[in-house]
Amino acid sequence: MTGDKIFPIKTFAPEELHDRVHAALRAWEKVHTDFGDLLDDLLLFREAYAVNSADMEALPRVTTNQLLRDAIDRLAEQSEGHAEVLRHRFVEGHKLRRTAAIMNWTIDQVRKRQRDAIEQLATILAYDESYLRHLRVHEVESTLPPSTYTDLFGFDEALGVLLEELLLQDASWVIAIMGIGGIGKTALADALMRRTIRHFRFDEYVWLRVDPNDFDQERVDFESAIDLLAHRLAEQIAPEVAGNVSMNERLARVRQVLKETPHLIVIDNLETRSSTAYLMRQLQDWANPSKFLVTTRIRPIGEASIFGYTLDELDARDTAELIRHHALSIGQKDLAQATDDQAMRIYDAVGGNPLALKMVISLAATMPISLILNDLQLVHTPEVEALYNRIYQRAWMAITPTQRLLLQSMPLIAETGGTLTQLKAISGLADHELWPAINELVNRSLIELRGTTWNQSYGIHRLTGSFLQTNINRWEDDDDEDEDLLV
Ligand SMILES: Nc1ncnc2c1ncn2[C@@H]1O[C@H](COP(=O)(O)OP(=O)(O)OP(=O)(O)O)[C@@H](O)[C@H]1O
Ligand SMILES: [Mg+2]
Repeated sequence: MTGDKIFPIKTFAPEELHDRVHAALRAWEKVHTDFGDLLDDLLLFREAYAVNSADMEALPRVTTNQLLRDAIDRLAEQSEGHAEVLRHRFVEGHKLRRTAAIMNWTIDQVRKRQRDAIEQLATILAYDESYLRHLRVHEVESTLPPSTYTDLFGFDEALGVLLEELLLQDASWVIAIMGIGGIGKTALADALMRRTIRHFRFDEYVWLRVDPNDFDQERVDFESAIDLLAHRLAEQIAPEVAGNVSMNERLARVRQVLKETPHLIVIDNLETRSSTAYLMRQLQDWANPSKFLVTTRIRPIGEASIFGYTLDELDARDTAELIRHHALSIGQKDLAQATDDQAMRIYDAVGGNPLALKMVISLAATMPISLILNDLQLVHTPEVEALYNRIYQRAWMAITPTQRLLLQSMPLIAETGGTLTQLKAISGLADHELWPAINELVNRSLIELRGTTWNQSYGIHRLTGSFLQTNINRWEDDDDEDEDLLV
């Protein structure tokens, strides 16, 4: 559902273009008055103009005329007569009377043909514009990691506020989505990116997933942290300086590209206790006209110029919606029809953290939900971490040894995800074991799809990673005492 249905692409209906196409035709001769009647909000215009600029022929009127001329040529393929009228009237600038004489028509006939021809021209332009917009959206989307959700709940306000910040010309240049693990920062950034793409506000879009540990002060000093970030960016926007060039050269080039071409860059997981604020200050310098959308578990302190948005837990109503939706998508028929009261019981025990909710719902496939909820309520602590710990422990016990083997080896995979071949190598599983295991772990929200449509890979949520690394041995020991935990 992340496609064009929930995020429609803004296009033009032929009627919307009709009068403007007429006005643009009438202004054909006004080559030196580059304002008004230019069709310059069309992507067709913007792309042609960018090409013309490179050839130093950047007059907006020249570009508009070029668009019209191409469209008239297309019209000629359907009806030479209609195209002919437009050429006489606007390209040659002949009066009605003269056009009528040349074409051997009455003046009324010319008028009527002209009206029809403009209507057809608007239809051609609207069609081409819509085709180009869909093409560009899908080109950009094929470079993004797949969304981890099929629908989002409770994000209307966040989407509204942040989309405005992203689209407005003079709004903030660096925007941070803040919140605890699993609360939906990455999902929200993904939805914002996909919506922004459909407004054609930026020329280029980049999604960068970073491993926050790489930037930690214990590993690198501030200067190297910035060079590392520049390096990761350069790989996508300026590959010529991603290799062996001096740090200054790389920084200068990255900055230049971002200053010349408006990019929207998402940096997912920009959070190290030591350097988050410092890195964000660097982003400020690189931004404008490009913008950065950052997700972080850490609030960058003292950065007044950053637009920060804190994501909180979902409320009871949105939680109920998410429960039913997720249950349906993984085939949990009973929970998919949970009443509000039943959903409320889950909300009371788990709260409104989407990741925690998804995992609890998956657990209900193998365990009575009342037992799970009782078990969670035993964790008499408001700490989310303790709650997660319990949920992960439960999830671990619910999966098969083959699935455990695969999950346990996942932390060996890079942050950006591993290919199927890599998963096979690290787990040692055969094809016939690997596929069902991946499937089941994806269903349980323990494995996520990463990479891009053409280059798919698999990874684990960062919370899953940290719980696997810190707790796994203990869980193995607890395994024998499974029953005790259900008390
Ligand atoms: N509002 C929502 N509606 C439906 N699903 C959601 C919502 N928010 C998050 N999710 C889902 O919950 C899971 C966790 O969300 P996400 O990965 O975005 O969290 P996060 O805040 O980025 O966590 P982390 O800090 O660990 O990176 C994902 O599978 C995501 O698709
Ligand atoms: Mg995230």
